[in-house]
Amino acid sequence: MSSSPTSQRRVASATGRMAAVQEMAALQRMLFEVEREFVRTATALVPRLGGIELKYLLCQHVWESAGHARFLRERGREMSGFGKDDGVRAEFRKIFEEAIRNEDEQAALAGFYRVIKPAILSAYREYLQLTHQLADWPSRHLVEEFILDEERHAEEMEPYLEGIDSGKWKAHLQAALSAIGGWLGHEPKNSLPADFTWACEKSEYSHPLTCNRGDFPICSSVFSEDPDETPIVRQWLEDPQTDARVIRLMVYVWLMMELDAVDYLATVFYDTPEAPFDLHFDLARHLWDESRHSQFGFRQLPKLGVDLDTVEHSLELYHVLVRMTPPERYAMMTMEFEAGSFPTKAKVMDRVRELNDFEADTLLAFDRNDEQNHVRYGHRWLPEIMKLFKEERTVEQFVADTKARFEELHGTHGKATPHSLPPEQRLTGNKILSLAGLA
Ligand SMILES: [Fe+2]
Ligand SMILES: [Fe+2]
Repeated sequence: MSSSPTSQRRVASATGRMAAVQEMAALQRMLFEVEREFVRTATALVPRLGGIELKYLLCQHVWESAGHARFLRERGREMSGFGKDDGVRAEFRKIFEEAIRNEDEQAALAGFYRVIKPAILSAYREYLQLTHQLADWPSRHLVEEFILDEERHAEEMEPYLEGIDSGKWKAHLQAALSAIGGWLGHEPKNSLPADFTWACEKSEYSHPLTCNRGDFPICSSVFSEDPDETPIVRQWLEDPQTDARVIRLMVYVWLMMELDAVDYLATVFYDTPEAPFDLHFDLARHLWDESRHSQFGFRQLPKLGVDLDTVEHSLELYHVLVRMTPPERYAMMTMEFEAGSFPTKAKVMDRVRELNDFEADTLLAFDRNDEQNHVRYGHRWLPEIMKLFKEERTVEQFVADTKARFEELHGTHGKATPHSLPPEQRLTGNKILSLAGLA
């Protein structure tokens, strides 16, 4: 394949002894930039999309795409000409900016999966065609894996795209992509139609002030002291008299509600366009971890007799955090919520172990392990995010001020979501007692 006319033409366009390597490194550079920009922008769709399973899937794809970008950069840096920084060229960034500008989140999702991702897949296939199978075997090996991932992503997303009419939007994004000749610039370049207008030139992008939970009932918080109001009853969690089966149900609700972390963490990528890629890589892992933690609850609760349509989703944290700056959002998450959750979670884990429920113990152990990593990420990256926002306070001062500001905003925006369901229909502490066979 390396002797195809295209390949010869490409290689001939660089000169010098290392031209063959530099040509391929330049293509890997493009692929790296595309994957990292996908991670930065596709995440903006997470709080906008209402499907819970869809959010989970998108977080998984984002994590895998971040992996592609990381391996491309690692391999690319072994090759002459890849470049040392993590920047993304403006012409790529503009297309991704455009992709999130459709106000209909379904159409926006379809744009990513019917135009942008298929073009990434064909760019990988093209890379394999262009490179020398033996000389560039290390890259080939990676790209073959990425192709399998991309094919699977398309398959996994297909059921969620059924029935979305994205014809016009698809043509719009396709035109933007054709104008640069596809991601590798090798396809015929068609200039933009005369009536083409860039939505991203007309407006700044802003995250929604509330997150979409589709048809699920919502509320401000699932924590309270009142067993007739919320499923998690604070004093029961720590009370040694509480039956372990009740604790297990409450902790699964708690885990499922980590979906709020998915929605607000997802907003930080877009807001930090100049972040080093390693920051976005760890955020992508963090995001996927939270989506897995939420799934722990989402998958286990029905097995314990809970009808998920009766579990209200709590929106208070998203509502408050989306009104704060990205470093504030990230500081609250890692330095307050996560760092502060260990003592209670430890007690909960000990209580659940009384049940000899191997699966529950396993899920909680992995949750704890992941959370320890998240706090480490916080220590590593909060100072960097603060720098991106020209924050000059010390980390300590910043965290203290942020907590105070959170409390203030919580007063106005935290309690803004009334219960969707009347008490008799929603899951409450007392309902949990009866599900556990105690009432
Ligand atoms: Fe978590
Ligand atoms: Fe976490």
